[in-house]
Parts: sequence; C-alpha cells; structure tokens
Amino acid sequence: MIEKKLLFVCLGNICRSPAAEAVMVEKLKKAGMDARIMCDSAGILGYHAGEKADYRMRNHALQRGYKVTSLSRKVKADVDFDHFDMIIGMDEQNIKDLNLLVRSSADLNKIFRMTDFSSQSAYDHIPDPYYGGSDGFELVLDLLEDACDGLIKYLEKRKQ
Ligand code: 4NP
Repeated sequence: MIEKKLLFVCLGNICRSPAAEAVMVEKLKKAGMDARIMCDSAGILGYHAGEKADYRMRNHALQRGYKVTSLSRKVKADVDFDHFDMIIGMDEQNIKDLNLLVRSSADLNKIFRMTDFSSQSAYDHIPDPYYGGSDGFELVLDLLEDACDGLIKYLEKRKQ
C-alpha cells in the first residue's frame, strides 16, 4: 500500500527533478520500500512539457545505473498539493515559486528542500546543470544520491 507520495520539483523538469525521481526510485527498491513510497517529478515551467529528460542527464544517470524515464510536466498546484505528501524543491528559487502556489498552511507544510536531507553542508541547493558541462551533471548526481539516502532515513524514522 502506498503510504507517502513524493513530488520532486525543479525549474524545467528535464535535469534535476527527473534525476532525483530516478535515484530515489532505485534507492527505495534497494531498501525494500518501493511498494510504500511513490515518486514523481514536475517543473515550475511548462516549457519542456512532454519531453524526455535532457540526454546529458539521462546518460550521466545511466552510467550510475539510474534509468531516467519520466516525461516533463509542469507543477499543477490545485492537483499536486492535494495528491502529494512531500513536494521537494531543488533550489531556493524553486522553493520561492512553490511557496507562491500554496493555498493553505497544510500546503506550505508539504514543501521541503532537497538539501534538507543531505549529510553534507557545502551545498544548500542542487545547482542547475543545464548551461554547464559534465561536471555539473556529476555533481547533481552526487548530491542527489546523498540527499536520497537522507530522505530514506527520514521516511523510515517518520514511520516508527
Ligand atoms: P532543471 O534544469 O530545472 O534541472 O530541469 C533546467 C532545464 C531547462 C531550463 C532551465 C533549467 N530552461 O531554461 O530551459
């Protein structure tokens, strides 16, 4: 039975949030939690709606064993804040944009920042890799792997 539904959010939903979704799905499978936790991703912008994730993100993720399969879609405030339990932004601007969409304090309480779950403190956001090179995509995956481990621990603790 699905106990928690997570929505990962970035600007375009073609780099960071689809990668976060793919990394989390894989880590949930390894932790035996995939039947309990459901993941999806969306973007603040609908500019890339219907598109596969950026090929660079897909390739870098695949090299680590993560299949990024989701198609881009825009956040739907009226539906997503009802459907999901946690809405997890990748950077400060994503959080600000999500905060503008809330309808209630209950909605507001669903918003988290991906790096809230990080074990490291060097980055307080997942940097946008879109206009950069390979290093940026690798950094995104490093930070997402770490934050997903923390998110799994958080979900396990909340369950007890
Ligand atoms: P993302 O990266 O937010 O990690 O998906 C971006 C993708 C596309 C654009 C910006 C950021 N864009 O401006 O098209």
